[in-house]
Amino acid sequence: MSSGPELGVCYYPEHWSEDLWITDAQNMHKNGIRWVRIAEFAWSRIEPNPGKYEWEWLDKAVDILGSNGLKIVMCTPTPTPPKWLVDQMPDMVAIDENGRPRNFGSRRHYSFSHLGYQKESQRITEAVAKRYGQNKFVQAWQTDNEYGCHETTYSWCSSSLTQFRKWLEKKYKSIDELNKSWGNVFWSMEYRSFSEIELPNLTVTEANPSHNFDFRKFSSDQVKNFNSQQVKIINEYSPERPVSHNYMGHFVEFDHREVSKDLEIAAWNSYPLGNLQNMQIIAREDKKLVRDCFNMGDPDFQSYHHDLYRGMGRLWIMEQQPGPVNWAKYNPIPKAGAVRMWTWEAFAHDAEVVSYFRWRQAPFAQEQMHAGLMYRDNTPAVGSREALQVAQEIQKIKLPRTQKSEIALLHDYEACWMTELDGQTEDFHYTRLMLDFYKAIRVNGGSLDVVGKEADFKGYKLVIIPSFVHLSSEIFNKIALSGAKILAGPRTGIKTPDFQIPKNLSLEGLGYQVTRVDALPRELPIEVEWKGIKGHLSVWREHGNSSGVSEGNSKDGMPVITSGNKGSYLCGWPDSNLLSAIMKDQMTAAGLKSISLPEYLRVRQRGDLLFFTNYGEQKAVIPDFYKGDIILGSRKMGQADVTILRSEG
Ligand code: GAL
Repeated sequence: MSSGPELGVCYYPEHWSEDLWITDAQNMHKNGIRWVRIAEFAWSRIEPNPGKYEWEWLDKAVDILGSNGLKIVMCTPTPTPPKWLVDQMPDMVAIDENGRPRNFGSRRHYSFSHLGYQKESQRITEAVAKRYGQNKFVQAWQTDNEYGCHETTYSWCSSSLTQFRKWLEKKYKSIDELNKSWGNVFWSMEYRSFSEIELPNLTVTEANPSHNFDFRKFSSDQVKNFNSQQVKIINEYSPERPVSHNYMGHFVEFDHREVSKDLEIAAWNSYPLGNLQNMQIIAREDKKLVRDCFNMGDPDFQSYHHDLYRGMGRLWIMEQQPGPVNWAKYNPIPKAGAVRMWTWEAFAHDAEVVSYFRWRQAPFAQEQMHAGLMYRDNTPAVGSREALQVAQEIQKIKLPRTQKSEIALLHDYEACWMTELDGQTEDFHYTRLMLDFYKAIRVNGGSLDVVGKEADFKGYKLVIIPSFVHLSSEIFNKIALSGAKILAGPRTGIKTPDFQIPKNLSLEGLGYQVTRVDALPRELPIEVEWKGIKGHLSVWREHGNSSGVSEGNSKDGMPVITSGNKGSYLCGWPDSNLLSAIMKDQMTAAGLKSISLPEYLRVRQRGDLLFFTNYGEQKAVIPDFYKGDIILGSRKMGQADVTILRSEG
């Protein structure tokens, strides 16, 4: 465990002439950087020809960086298999859904299921781990880089097919079981043996959702398998060093909780502006937010991911946006102060390290337009000044241990896949729904934990389940037994784990029996009134019979919320005003304090410290509700400002 939060940077010694390395290392250290991540794309320099390793340059880089006071995160270089390897095994490249190969010439051109590539990945991992596992400067590891990036989780190749059939056979044992579970009698899709099964692409119309769902679970397992093969080797050669992987924002194609079980550090790459521009669903629906926050990012997106991933391991931000990126629809310059604010916000959410991507802007190849902490001419860019400021500030503030929050938000990858595969309305977007509920707590001053179904729910006062399609009554009862107040959202408990409609369309104890569903475009909301507040439900509206206490009404005659002996049920997807009023009410009923914060002001509690961030263009004043001494910043906050207050309780 590090003693306090630290800063890091991603560095590519192979991009620069050796005579720059020493001054780079010295400048990093001067700039308050203590960690440096290297080598994740360096395979062609480590092994330029099959079996002929060239370590001298990397040894030298490690030595220079380390002896200048930097701790190294060493990576396995498997996201970028070199050309000679692809030529040796041309069938290792992934195949896209339309049957086209994902060719050499960028990165991530491999199929997780290719046994030959798995062997190669283990071989190169072993070579690197053997060489640096006990190196005193190498203090942590990263496997590969951004699993699944550029739509590479799924491969529709023959290796996937072979492995998929084996996976199915292991799961179902008999083909009759599979046929029954998938409901293959529908459209004469029955199989006589596992060897008849194909991958669920290139079908005339949609493939059977159960087929697709199993393919997603299989593909997720392939990522887990690939990662754990590497982790096992690293742990053998470098047992005392923690292993991480760097996940992405807004990315749900594999079960990160499962992959994280093999890792100590759950890192992610935070690109607030790129993510705001690229999250189409927000871009389409929240024009005001995209306009107001275009140079700072969504005020909750980063926090949501910090909370999501810190639930899976020690939290690091392995790549932090330092200036404009190159890959989003639009790539604005961050507002002055934003890089500092994002960094502090990560620390507020328990990050141990925030590491900027990258040290110096690359003058060649794909990411020339991507900022670094240094400009191409080696003068400091804006981000580096802000990083330095944080480096100085963290020296002065001792961060307390974080505590379990009083509110939990239940998140589940399989539930997400099910809603995607059986959409019913194009606008039902799982992460968007999560974020809406998360925001609705945050605008009322709440701090939350984002948890999976295996969490220990004891100690929570309020558990929110925005949507969990196949929530079993066992898990639901476990949550109910914790004594927490429960609010479940639309589309909870309406499928069996093998993707069929259960006998009862609703979970017992929420006061509602769903009978049918109005699945709508967001532009056609339904007017409702709840406790005197006029609002809307949109996208998903459940019709049914109330058997408990009902609240609210609407033109369609259905309630807004129902309650039974185990919790409450929200029978649709409310607009943000209504949802935030409902959350306030839930918080009060759970015995929690709340306050309506100014529009873009947010707060997160860590121990007795409260961290405020202002994502708004307007100045924001911290309400008197929050009493205590200011230890950083001031009560009057400018745009992209951070204030830390020691709470009086
Ligand atoms: C990340 C990736 C980095 C770099 C960066 C640019 O997704 O891990 O290698 O490409 O984006 O923003």
